[in-house]
Amino acid sequence: MAISEGKRGLAHGSVTDLLALVTDMALPTLSKGVLRRRPRVVGLLENTGTEARGIRRLQALRQKYAGQAVLLSAFGRKHLILTDPAQVQYVLQQTPALFQSSSDEKTSALAHFEPGVSLVSDGTERQTRRNFNAEVLDEGCPMHSLSGPFRQVVRHEFGGLLSALQRGDDTHLSWEHFEAAWNRVIRCILLGTPARDDDALTAMLNKLRETGNWAFLHPGRKRLRRKFHDALQTHLDHADPSSLAGLAAQSPAQSKARPSDQFTHYMFAFDPGGMATFRALALLAAHPETLQVVRARLASGEDHADPLLRATLLESLRLWSTTPVILRQARIDIDWRGDTLPAKTQVVIYAPFFHRDDETLTEAHSFAPGLWPEGRVLRDTRFVPFSDGDGICPARDLVLMTGAMVLAELLGTHTAALQDPKRLDASRPLPPTLDNYTLAFHLTAA
Ligand code: HEM
Repeated sequence: MAISEGKRGLAHGSVTDLLALVTDMALPTLSKGVLRRRPRVVGLLENTGTEARGIRRLQALRQKYAGQAVLLSAFGRKHLILTDPAQVQYVLQQTPALFQSSSDEKTSALAHFEPGVSLVSDGTERQTRRNFNAEVLDEGCPMHSLSGPFRQVVRHEFGGLLSALQRGDDTHLSWEHFEAAWNRVIRCILLGTPARDDDALTAMLNKLRETGNWAFLHPGRKRLRRKFHDALQTHLDHADPSSLAGLAAQSPAQSKARPSDQFTHYMFAFDPGGMATFRALALLAAHPETLQVVRARLASGEDHADPLLRATLLESLRLWSTTPVILRQARIDIDWRGDTLPAKTQVVIYAPFFHRDDETLTEAHSFAPGLWPEGRVLRDTRFVPFSDGDGICPARDLVLMTGAMVLAELLGTHTAALQDPKRLDASRPLPPTLDNYTLAFHLTAA
């Protein structure tokens, strides 16, 4: 794999570059909360359009250093900022051989609630845990082996929600209602029906994630962590056969894979899945011609709409990355086209730049489901909503399947309009941030 044909070596960034990146990229990303979003900050970022600055900053850096990756030093640590999709693919494809997924920063943040998750494991432990996750999550299968029961869960929860909210022909759908139904679906998918109403479990994890936002700056909440894992383990022991816990119980790898830590991550990571689905609904509401195509396809059978719904979800993730920063750490001194990238350098992939770089991508700020033929996750491209290489998200198909089922349930019987259409005007560049917490819809039975 080549690192950006025709461009050589590493550029050494200045202190001014560092300060500009901290201001325009790092601070907005950290302040909105890396592991658990802070709704008020997300709202502020949408209102001020601040996140566009991170993309512009990286464009300026690319121009200044002719597309070389830029090495910076901060607080005694070296950081490599990637500015070219070929560099991104090189780093992701060379994980775990040359680059570790378990960067120090990621490890200290996730240690607050899931120290044994595959994402921050290394060596044979990582392999065992990754294999376990791939097996339970049915990695690479567009329809999970439990898609039948999962569809029933979605029907029950979102069909029920629509009936509960209906006032005459009009249904008002807010994030609060959507999130509550989404969380019930997720607990059933992960842990089975007995976990459906265990809101306390989700609340405990959310608190731990808030702590994780502070990484090593927070001493941790050991008692809460123990309480959460005890409660989770009780559900795992029950092993409802129509849930992922049931599959995990049959896995030969389960004794070595620390299932409780893997399931903690599953639960945590389905949260951005809900945000992406709600924003995908907003994209469809703002693009009535695509919404009409979706509804016509739904009318001729849910499966006909599935690829377009998945492409819409992928667009939601391209436009508003739920994992804006992917981190890797150089394992050893690495030869970077004639220069040396020092061991332990943290490599930073700022996904919004690669997804919405309007100097190189015509569709940067518009809704373009055609970028995702057949609604499939692309490999070896500039788009990395689920990462790539060995560290790619093993739940990418499950997430898209679940989100598409929810959208199908809502749109099979209703049309959707944004309560405030100005938030997403299809005739203008789509905003750099879309605050899911304050989005609301009118759903009309049709
Ligand atoms: C919108 C939803 C999601 C997105 C955008 C997403 C994205 C990602 C990304 C970008 C990574 C790589 C992170 C890194 O290398 O630092 C990742 C890893 C991972 N994701 Fe997801 N994810 C989502 C939902 C889920 C869900 C629902 C699950 C489980 C049910 C899951 C399980 C995992 C696991 C286990 C890993 C670690 C892979 C490894 O071993 O390295 N993700 N995800």
